[in-house]
Amino acid sequence: MAYSDLRSFLSELGDDLLTIRQPFDPRFEIAALLRSMPEDGPALLFENVSGYPGARVAGNLIASRRRVARALGTTEDRLVQTYLRHRDNGLPPVAARGAAPVKEVIHRDPDDLLALLPILTHHEKDAAPFITTGVVLCKDPYSGRRGMGIHRMMVKGGRRLGILLANPPLSEFHAHAEAGGKPLEIAVALGLEPATLLAAVVKVGPLGPDKMEIAGALRGEPVEVVCGETVNVDVPAHAEIVIEGRVLPGVREAEGPFGENTGYYFSNVSPVIEVTAVTHRRDCIYPGLCPWSGDVDTLLSLASGTELLGQLQQLVAGVIDLELTSGTAGFSAAIATRSCAPTEVRRLIMLALNLDRRLKTVTVVDDDVDIRDLREVGWAMATRYQPARDTVLIHGAEGYVIDPSAASGGSKIGFDATRRGGPEFDKVTLEPAAAQKARAVIAQLLS
Ligand SMILES: Cc1cc2nc3c(=O)[nH]c(=O)nc-3n(C[C@H](O)[C@H](O)[C@H](O)COP(=O)(O)O)c2cc1C
Repeated sequence: MAYSDLRSFLSELGDDLLTIRQPFDPRFEIAALLRSMPEDGPALLFENVSGYPGARVAGNLIASRRRVARALGTTEDRLVQTYLRHRDNGLPPVAARGAAPVKEVIHRDPDDLLALLPILTHHEKDAAPFITTGVVLCKDPYSGRRGMGIHRMMVKGGRRLGILLANPPLSEFHAHAEAGGKPLEIAVALGLEPATLLAAVVKVGPLGPDKMEIAGALRGEPVEVVCGETVNVDVPAHAEIVIEGRVLPGVREAEGPFGENTGYYFSNVSPVIEVTAVTHRRDCIYPGLCPWSGDVDTLLSLASGTELLGQLQQLVAGVIDLELTSGTAGFSAAIATRSCAPTEVRRLIMLALNLDRRLKTVTVVDDDVDIRDLREVGWAMATRYQPARDTVLIHGAEGYVIDPSAASGGSKIGFDATRRGGPEFDKVTLEPAAAQKARAVIAQLLS
């Protein structure tokens, strides 16, 4: 089932949504609760946001695969197949039918963004409040092609935002606009249902499909769009909030420090947006997302991990599954294979490390190892991997900008932790009937 907007998704969550009625401050407190939620905990809706009467903040929305599966109208065990099946059947966006909810309230040339929106301050040493779920939309000034991605934005006071443009296509579109001495018109959509948020960070590459079409495919119905008030950019008509503006040509300012998805503070000298309008729904819901959290793990695992899995399965026979390691910002992955010859495993490692710019370490195991269990992956490394024989090292790779260890250049490494046959690799097993009884008793005791 498709969700047309964030609020219809929230209203379907039932027990999987916890409403917080006690006051929570958007400065530190909301982010602290989002970060402290147990793994697989419910989504949160803050109804009493200090300093913002009537405002609501939603968070922890996609920290569980269960909720993402729900958003894509499938079950957890079918999530990866569902994503891969839909991904290539893009549905182009359509013009909004009737009035666009996101235009219910319009502020042109707003004086002070913070007076309008409860933008969260996340970490102790963050320089300012940062927008962390802003889906930035714009068009390439050269080709007219649409670009879409999540980019962090620092509130600089008044109507100015700093924006980290470290990734294509938006970094390229900005360079194209700057080459012509022109500002880049952008719109930032906030408060989208999970499928569109997910589509925004899919790694499509320069020739890949339009992410708005992927969003339509994942939702099962096209995204309804409407043109911005002050910029010539189409925005999702059912977003909770849209910020419109121009990335100023030739302007760079200090941006950060900000606690990033790597778990470290990161500062940059970044482009600046001058906001030209804010439009939103009545009683809009501001979406929170804490960096280095379960939300980010799920987003990256599906958008980057599943995408890479699909590519690798087309290139190497025997690739079964891939999991990006939680908390590593997509820098580390484990891949499960079946009957892959050692030379094929080496090829697989080199392909994986090259296809994904961010990926720095990859461990290949057999499919008797649970790649979502770090204990099992560690066990395979300890018992099946021989460093002198099973290591692939790539020197001189591009270092990823938010990786603090790559400041002076990057490198990549792959580990072949597959067994190579023989009786010494006969994994210990429990007697099946006894194992079944044990599982039943545990389920009963814990229920
Ligand atoms: C939670 C999250 C935050 C991100 N923040 C930024 C950012 O601040 N700046 C940036 O350039 N890219 C950021 N990205 C990556 C872009 O959205 C990126 O364009 C997208 O993941 C597509 O992958 P690509 O790198 O292949 O283009 C972020 C991704 C995620 C999942």
